[in-house]
Amino acid sequence: MLDRLKPQPADKILALMQQFREDPREGKIDLGVGVYKDASGVTPVMRAVKSAEQKLWQSETTKTYTGIAGDPAYNQAMRKLILAGSVADDRIASVATPGGTGAIRQALELVKRASPEATIWLSAPTWPNHPAIAGFLGLATAEYRYFDPATCGVDIEGMLEDLARAKPGDLVLLHGCCHNPTGANPTQTEWQRIVETVGASGATVLVDLAYQGFGDGLDADAYATRLIARSLPEVLIAASCSKNFGIYRERTGILIAISAEAGETAVTQQNLASLNRLNFSFPPDHGARLVTMILEDEALRDSWMEELEATREGMLALRTQLADELRRLTNSDRFDFIARHRGMFSRLGATPEQVAEIREKFGIYIVGDSRINIAGLNAQTVPLLAKAMVAVGV
Ligand code: LMR
Repeated sequence: MLDRLKPQPADKILALMQQFREDPREGKIDLGVGVYKDASGVTPVMRAVKSAEQKLWQSETTKTYTGIAGDPAYNQAMRKLILAGSVADDRIASVATPGGTGAIRQALELVKRASPEATIWLSAPTWPNHPAIAGFLGLATAEYRYFDPATCGVDIEGMLEDLARAKPGDLVLLHGCCHNPTGANPTQTEWQRIVETVGASGATVLVDLAYQGFGDGLDADAYATRLIARSLPEVLIAASCSKNFGIYRERTGILIAISAEAGETAVTQQNLASLNRLNFSFPPDHGARLVTMILEDEALRDSWMEELEATREGMLALRTQLADELRRLTNSDRFDFIARHRGMFSRLGATPEQVAEIREKFGIYIVGDSRINIAGLNAQTVPLLAKAMVAVGV
């Protein structure tokens, strides 16, 4: 049977990670996969996570299964962090999932069950795993315009025009903050227009919220998600703790499903639980438990928020430095958008050939669509990237 398997298309982010590992050059710079790194290139375990792990090691008396939806306290703590009471609790169903990707997968499985004819509307461009998972599940996809290469901002008119074509039973996937891969995000007024357009279309929204706290702050980054949840009858939210808690390998995420009527919540919850059971049974618990301990304990929470804020400010400082450096080198404001973008990523606007040249000549690894992970830089390497960009004619 196994001899019938065909090679699968490589995920371009994972392929680049591998290529970077194999490059023997000293001083190579990894701006590929979306992992936060501090100025010394380390992805640290956050202080609050270390403390929670220590406490957990002392207090945990069993490793028996949690509930099929994960620990109820985790679900409550995450609902509060993301929604902050914007929707009545009796309309909300949720399950813990293995990371944000697990939540996206479960969300699309739920859509497949409820509306197999759905078209999944994805931003052009989006995270490559979105269309990959939808395609794997046999769901139809369509793109809505999002990124305007001329301004490196959001093409809001194009976006609204395309989203108006979504139909009831379709799913519109929106990035809640820190758009991946572009770094360009709608303003609050534009979000209002997006909500009105999608609301009028009758489609259901899925918010992918993987970077809460990495853009403008924990509450500001949840603005769009809360607005959507408050304004539309039916909303799915796939959220990740990988980045904001720095617990990538613990696979900690949540899928929230808000039903139009409180009377539907029990069946929605039961469907979410059944999908967990079918796909992997009980969700991973270690990361979820750490997150719950941090969110429920004032001292741990303060420590976490302080470190997250420093992380966010560090990325903003790198953005400003890179934009300033490019302004100096090119004597133009062409790259000022880098300082306006938010989150880990920015799409630079380089061609695939220029991206390859930057990798070959300068050992700087950028995803082929010219997405950089800003956190892969530090104060010393920002000038190197700027110089390389100018040298290849970006
Ligand atoms: C990324 O886009 O680099 C991250 O979301 C990590 C991943 O799994 O691709």
